[in-house]
Amino acid sequence: MRALNLTLSFADSTVLRDVSLDFSERTVTTLLGPTGSGKTTFLRTLNRMNDKVFGYRHQGDVLLGGQSIFSRGDLMEFRRRVGMLFQRPNPFPMSIVDNVVAGVRAHKMVPRKHLKGVAEARLVEVGLWDAVKDRLGDSPFRLSGGQQQLLCLARALAVNPEVLLLDEPTSSLDPATTEKIEDLIRSLTGRLTVIMVTHDLAQAARIGDRTALFFDGRLVEEGPTEQLFFSPQQPETARYVSGLFGDRRPLGGRER
Ligand SMILES: Nc1ncnc2c1ncn2[C@@H]1O[C@H](COP(=O)(O)OP(=O)(O)O)[C@@H](O)[C@H]1O
Ligand SMILES: [Mg+2]
Repeated sequence: MRALNLTLSFADSTVLRDVSLDFSERTVTTLLGPTGSGKTTFLRTLNRMNDKVFGYRHQGDVLLGGQSIFSRGDLMEFRRRVGMLFQRPNPFPMSIVDNVVAGVRAHKMVPRKHLKGVAEARLVEVGLWDAVKDRLGDSPFRLSGGQQQLLCLARALAVNPEVLLLDEPTSSLDPATTEKIEDLIRSLTGRLTVIMVTHDLAQAARIGDRTALFFDGRLVEEGPTEQLFFSPQQPETARYVSGLFGDRRPLGGRER
């Protein structure tokens, strides 16, 4: 997946300016930057989730496998190829087992009689099987927040996406579940391309093959994660990774 000179605005406010980023296949890229720097907007665009937002316009392009994502007619098939996990878990109002296979069923990916097997395999994969195997027919809303997020991850993986977008997926979770999700994300490399927003520098250092830093709607720097942390090329990066800016500084990068 690759963004090419992407400039994006809502009505007359420009949120992203001229962002070009190439996501190598089967790697993890983490997106860092202060609150309001445009990370979520960027991620949502990669999944065409801004299409219907009032006043949304973009220039430039996003390519998947060499083709513009905006020219694809079949949005449902596109979203199968590019999955997304949000900051807050969003299980569907249906049973635990139906959640896992919702996409598999909608895309008719396997015969009906195999749906239960798919659900089990995916729940095992995310480490949730033992906790839910005796209540597969129950509502997901009685699960803990961390379990709900793992369920959403199982659902996202079940349709075999090529790209997985994660928007601060562990920011509301306890350390144990965070570690579980980080291990899972690491285990996905080699299988799919992961693009993850995080405000946690240490998390980016732990799991990003590459890291990109956003300030005020611009891409400041992008490269191998060690390079960003240990030999940053831009002064803004050096200050950000040293923790000076933190995540609460409003719209950074204005003081040059
Ligand atoms: N639907 C929208 N309409 C207008 N402005 C928006 C909309 N969504 C986000 N923005 C603005 O875009 C900027 C970037 O927001 P966001 O992408 O959420 O940043 P981040 O995820 O880095 O905190 C903010 O100034 C925000 O107010
Ligand atoms: Mg955000």
